[in-house]
Amino acid sequence: MSAKLVVGAQWGDEGKAKVIDFLSGEINLIVRYQGGANAGHTVLVGDQKYIFHLIPSGILYPKTICVIGNGVVLDPVAFITEVDDLMSRNIDAMERLVLSDACHLILPMHQMIDAHRETAAGGKKIGTTKRGIGICYADKMMRVGLRVGDLLSHRLRERLEHIVEAKNRELKNLYNLPEVKIDPLFEDLSKFAQKIKGIVKNTSLYLNGELARGKTVLLEGAQGTGLDIDYGTYPYVTSSNTTTGGAIAGSGISFQYLKEVIGISKAYTTRVGEGPFPTELHGEEEERLRKLGSEFGATTGRPRRVGWFDVELIRHASRVNGLTGIALTKIDVLSSYDQIKIGAGYKLKGEKIDAFPSTGLEDVEVIYETMPGWKTDISKARKLSDLPPACRTYVDRLVELTEVPIKLISVGAGREETIVL
Ligand code: GDP
Ligand code: IMO
Ligand code: MG
Repeated sequence: MSAKLVVGAQWGDEGKAKVIDFLSGEINLIVRYQGGANAGHTVLVGDQKYIFHLIPSGILYPKTICVIGNGVVLDPVAFITEVDDLMSRNIDAMERLVLSDACHLILPMHQMIDAHRETAAGGKKIGTTKRGIGICYADKMMRVGLRVGDLLSHRLRERLEHIVEAKNRELKNLYNLPEVKIDPLFEDLSKFAQKIKGIVKNTSLYLNGELARGKTVLLEGAQGTGLDIDYGTYPYVTSSNTTTGGAIAGSGISFQYLKEVIGISKAYTTRVGEGPFPTELHGEEEERLRKLGSEFGATTGRPRRVGWFDVELIRHASRVNGLTGIALTKIDVLSSYDQIKIGAGYKLKGEKIDAFPSTGLEDVEVIYETMPGWKTDISKARKLSDLPPACRTYVDRLVELTEVPIKLISVGAGREETIVL
């Protein structure tokens, strides 16, 4: 009947999975629409922690159908590892997963090339997760990708030979890397095909059909607006459209079903990997916030860079995604501060600028506002009136500056540590 989208408003790791898990109870189908196993989505239910890379976190609800859409780049090894892990925890993942036949596959050479290019780039590296994401999407655009549907075709060997030949020329001549052998790869992919053949569908057709029948869909974004290939801080971005346009293209649902777009934002900002970050903290202040927020990557374990809330980034995310609301996460992390800063705007060469720039974010200067802290544990708050006045003032100021309503506040990683406004 209608679809809701959850999209990262910052540079990823905003707490999307926590919010998706909270919203999933009433949803029939959850769809991942872009990215791959570069994502790390953490859900805490009671004392059980789950980290999802490819599978939508809705799989934890016993009746929810989880769809991996055509916009995702699927790593067969990561997918099977994740399914096996869930099965070992008594979650019948394969019974409720649907896989798009148009999904592109991450092949071993994609990871080899990603890792090699990052190392060779030295100081100019992007800081990728080395999961082969950018290389696989590049092959998709070059029209030399292998798709899930190819695995089930009698033409698989022929298609694979064409692709491996082309990639081997690259591996050898461009990167001086060992060539990939076709036979073992064909064997591995054929085995993978046997495992997944029962769950492969034309997911665009399937999802529009389910929506027409009155079902509810939640689209699960990976990464965030600042990492979008078009609207992020290029070249320090991921290789997909993480934003609303990507959700439509990567799921194949009609845009007319999309009724709500919820941007997820931390009450401060983080980023992993290289690239400009105007409100970034350094030294002791950086250590303090990283420790308070346990800011270490869910996929690579790398320490996340941390900084204050950046208003222009969220205003940009609101415009680009058409946000209907924000879910503000991890505000509990700020509870021990005497004073909290907000990056309220940018200046360039001394002049205030009116928007997040599409190039040259490195050169902006941040205009800060300072707010009083609340110095109280807020993790038990379950309604707005439970929050101390200084905390409510901070939230109100974020709404005023970003001009986006806050619809949900998360005060802890657990499902129940949530305030709905
Ligand atoms: P995602 O990639 O956007 O799903 O976010 P990650 O899972 O990579 O990172 C968010 C981290 O913050 C995870 O460890 C969550 O368990 C945790 N988290 C989410 N919401 C909250 C919150 O409101 N408070 C606290 N303290 N932790 C949270
Ligand atoms: P979730 O879904 C945070 C970052 C990498 C690097 C850049 C490109 O958990 O929010 P890639 O491997 O995609 O080519 O790397 O993007 N990155 C993420 N940062 N959260 C993520 O996912 C990320 N996925 C990729 O650190 O800077
Ligand atoms: Mg993450």
